[in-house]
Amino acid sequence: MTRIADLNQEDLHALRLQVRQEYDALRARGLKLDMTRGKPAPEQLNLANRLLALPRDGDHFSETGEDARNYGGLQGLPEARALFAPVLGAPADRIVVSNNSSLAVMHDSLAWALLKGVPGSEAPWSQAPWPTFICPVPGYDRHFAICEEYGIRMRPVPMTGQGPDMDAVEALAADPAVKGMWCVPKYSNPTGEIYSSETVQRLAAMRTGAPDFRIFWDNAYAVHHLTERRHEVGNILDLCAKANNPDRPFVFASTSKVTLAGAGLAFFASSAANVRWYLARAGKRTIGPDKLNQLRHVRFLKDEEGLRRHMDSHRALLVPKFNAVLAALESRLAGTGIASWSKPEGGYFISVDVMPGTARQVVALAKDAGVALTPAGATWPHARDPQDRNLRLAPTYPALEEVRAASEIIALCVLLAGIEKHCEAQEKGH
Ligand SMILES: Cc1ncc(COP(=O)(O)O)c(C=O)c1O
Repeated sequence: MTRIADLNQEDLHALRLQVRQEYDALRARGLKLDMTRGKPAPEQLNLANRLLALPRDGDHFSETGEDARNYGGLQGLPEARALFAPVLGAPADRIVVSNNSSLAVMHDSLAWALLKGVPGSEAPWSQAPWPTFICPVPGYDRHFAICEEYGIRMRPVPMTGQGPDMDAVEALAADPAVKGMWCVPKYSNPTGEIYSSETVQRLAAMRTGAPDFRIFWDNAYAVHHLTERRHEVGNILDLCAKANNPDRPFVFASTSKVTLAGAGLAFFASSAANVRWYLARAGKRTIGPDKLNQLRHVRFLKDEEGLRRHMDSHRALLVPKFNAVLAALESRLAGTGIASWSKPEGGYFISVDVMPGTARQVVALAKDAGVALTPAGATWPHARDPQDRNLRLAPTYPALEEVRAASEIIALCVLLAGIEKHCEAQEKGH
């Protein structure tokens, strides 16, 4: 495909007509496809169906003799903590296993920090004049929604391909009002980026204006590889400890996209002081988590190797879907100069940067043609993408054939919106 910007007026208009016709033809098919949220597909959930019959009748005692059916065990069963210790990069005694949803654990951690402060705080965060978070963009909309809910100011920082722009992060972190930062260090949502060793090292060692600064290290995609290479990122807990900032990271993860999205386990891992802090708050909220589910996960996944094999089965289901999206983008848009996109090696998303000023238009065109996309802007704080440029594609949930059909339409919409933008610019005489 030739670069759209290099076409003369006549060729551009001819192309616009041709692409419009193709779009109208696709629209006439009356499809109804959904590429909005990063949910596991039913076949992925089926991989964990055996969980539903576990633990077997009578098998409800933990290795320490605790009755998993009963109250208590706030920190989680030792065997569940041990099983996920390598995923979290923390020893079992510095891990808390919670019920489903790491998002809930993140929410609670932030709400408690606002209400009570964290170890090292002089006052609850809510008493600071402008509690602020650093938000790498594009990022995860639900992180931003928590900040928005509680009036936390958000400072966007661009992603670089190696994680967030660390010069910008360090400059912001020097401000005492900046209390924390969101990080999705591996296969980031939505860019798929993997934080480099240098990024992690700088995050661990940087000077912060707030003595109670916290990195919310959301390792949601820790084991969600799409290639044979199981990427690793630096161990934030160890690196912070070595840099004399042991309390800086709160590490989160879950099995939502390992076993069952609505019935998995969520994890919090941190320094001994932070774990004590977390448990003291959690103990007011609950008498104990669902330990039967913890036992169920231990019986089902068994060990690190079991977890690895299980994730390989996910990979086999997901790779064709990601490839279908990438093939459609490549065949329609490569060389046009109007879009670029991530080629993730893990995680749940493909991030597409379309021609500035057209992301909302692309979403509207796709909707008209029967494809639901995540709203444009969702990857930015307050849903405001200043360049109206970024789109997040979520290919995991629909069936492969649907992903193929939807991707074709999406790529065409990106092209059409880009061409129309160029036409507009030409008409204005730019
Ligand atoms: C980065 C990130 N964190 C957290 C979540 C949600 O995790 P959970 O299901 O454990 O609440 C998601 C889901 O898409 C995510 O992308």
